[in-house]
Amino acid sequence: MTQTLILLFHPNIAKSKANAALQAAAHTIPGAQVVDMQARYPSGHIDMHTDGEAEARALLEADRIVLQFPIQWYSTPALLKAWQDAVLTRMYYIHAAAEGDRLAGTPLMIAATAGNTPSAYGPGGANHFTIDELMAPLKATALRCGLPWHSPHLVFRADRLKPAELAAAQESYVRALNDFIATTTILDQTAA
Ligand SMILES: Cc1cc2nc3c(=O)[nH]c(=O)nc-3n(C[C@H](O)[C@H](O)[C@H](O)COP(=O)(O)O)c2cc1C
Repeated sequence: MTQTLILLFHPNIAKSKANAALQAAAHTIPGAQVVDMQARYPSGHIDMHTDGEAEARALLEADRIVLQFPIQWYSTPALLKAWQDAVLTRMYYIHAAAEGDRLAGTPLMIAATAGNTPSAYGPGGANHFTIDELMAPLKATALRCGLPWHSPHLVFRADRLKPAELAAAQESYVRALNDFIATTTILDQTAA
């Protein structure tokens, strides 16, 4: 079974509705491991050397990576930036040959929730920029790191979802994860 590593960056998952529901849905996917990064790093600090070594190992063991988070101030939560600064800097600038070069080729998918509506992020919308435009720093990171970009999974109006809409978002996330897995599974040609 191929491994899907889902790193969840939510400042307080105990107070979350959308990401908590998506996390529960992701747990049903065979081979998926969801890591609550805020619980792992409650202080918000990730040490590039000690923590970085374990994080790099986990990434290198994964067949594909998902970064799940709520959009905050048109960007990612601070811990996701801390993870990039510590783990990706370590892997691509300090241990490039042993780590970064080996991680290159691992597909990456973003799973984000937004409080605002799709139209607010549409052309002429209140937010002035599309989600795709706001994802540019993450896309640039993926390009720099050689991580093939998979179409993001987005949930809008995340604070206002009625129970049926939340259930639909869960189903949509499971479909998106299964699609990610199906399109990024490299068949082992040597297997019988
Ligand atoms: C500090 C903060 C900043 C936020 N900034 C945005 C934003 O820029 N755009 C947006 O659509 N929603 C924004 N939101 C709403 C969150 O995206 C929304 O509450 C979250 O996706 C809901 O998911 P949850 O139930 O898992 O917490 C913000 C929320 C907080 C707390």
